[in-house]
Amino acid sequence: MTQTTDPDVEPNRTFEVNDTETVPEGTEQIVVCRDRASRTRAVIAIDDTTLGPALGGVRYVAYPNEAAAIAEVRRLARGMTLKNACAEIPYGGGKSVIIKEDGQGPREDVMRGFGRFVNRLGGAYVPGVDMGTTIDDLATIGQVAPDVSCNHVDPSPYTALGVLAAIQAAADVAGFSELEGVRVLVQGAGHVGQSLAQRLAALGAHVLVADVDEARAAAVAKETKGEVVAPEAVTSTECDIFSPCAIARVVHDRNVHTLPCRVIVGAANDVLAHRALDRRLAERGVLYVPDFVANAGGVVQIHAIRAGWDEVTTEQEVLRIGPRVVELLQRSAATGRTPLEVAEDIASERIGRAVQIPV
Ligand code: NAI
Repeated sequence: MTQTTDPDVEPNRTFEVNDTETVPEGTEQIVVCRDRASRTRAVIAIDDTTLGPALGGVRYVAYPNEAAAIAEVRRLARGMTLKNACAEIPYGGGKSVIIKEDGQGPREDVMRGFGRFVNRLGGAYVPGVDMGTTIDDLATIGQVAPDVSCNHVDPSPYTALGVLAAIQAAADVAGFSELEGVRVLVQGAGHVGQSLAQRLAALGAHVLVADVDEARAAAVAKETKGEVVAPEAVTSTECDIFSPCAIARVVHDRNVHTLPCRVIVGAANDVLAHRALDRRLAERGVLYVPDFVANAGGVVQIHAIRAGWDEVTTEQEVLRIGPRVVELLQRSAATGRTPLEVAEDIASERIGRAVQIPV
């Protein structure tokens, strides 16, 4: 493992994780980092490296405390293991969060400080863009880390293309022959949500869009000739397809029985607050496509760049998410296992051991 002698970096607090209620079974490594120079705290979780180095994004957001950040990054890292395995790319799963808080140094220092910790992992973790970080941030991290993904390429348009393929596949299985006139509610008009909304509108879907940034929601609604939905009304607004593209745990115990949609497919990681919700959605006849299957377009594109694929091959590979979703939903219908369980089965077959989203 590559080590740094940078005096501004405290030694990593690294420990192997035993199975407990809150930790996904089999997590390989968690690194809690404190960079004194930029007054930055961060957590890196490497969930599984069976299929290759742990690939996963860097979040830069506020958390109530460090424990909350650790819990979140563990779950997200497991999602990346499942995502990369289902997407058939040669990577394991990892994720990291930089805790955003008052009193931190300049952004570049924060990113460089974080990068020094990534460097210590010697390539076992390959960071990428995620909520709150940009390709410029990744370029800064890459100045000190051995390997970063999507250096100057934003994966969001490919993520949106993959989510669209998943929406079309699930819509077809749900009985919509085309997207013309279908009401699709996109939560989050950010990098992925905006691109997705544009593609949906081009196919004639009726786009409803919600964002806590009112101006952004209004702009996307205008360009797609759609409607703005208030952020707090997202889970009570009638639609055919609900596409969460903003935050985690949008589906939870309090709304699972009332969500007024027939299909849920989105880009956001960790859409379900806990795994049992998948079965409750199925019992209501709501088709849920696991987030880590639908939102793999970005990681496929990251692999494409690293593997040297051309544009046409990359798009074809991203669009394979559609047939994968059809196969998954058909296997679910044939076996009585939920879409989430089937996706876990497929990932587990590839990894060679049982891998599940934590409870
Ligand atoms: P982004 O940060 O560009 O956009 C997120 C949008 O959601 C922002 O416009 C924000 O104002 C809005 N938002 C935040 N909280 C909200 C709330 N409670 N209600 C409504 N809107 C809210 O993020 P990006 O890149 O578009 O990603 C969206 C989601 O997709 C994230 O969960 C991310 O982890 C996931 N994802 C993104 C990938 C990518 O290629 N960008 C790849 C795979 C997953």
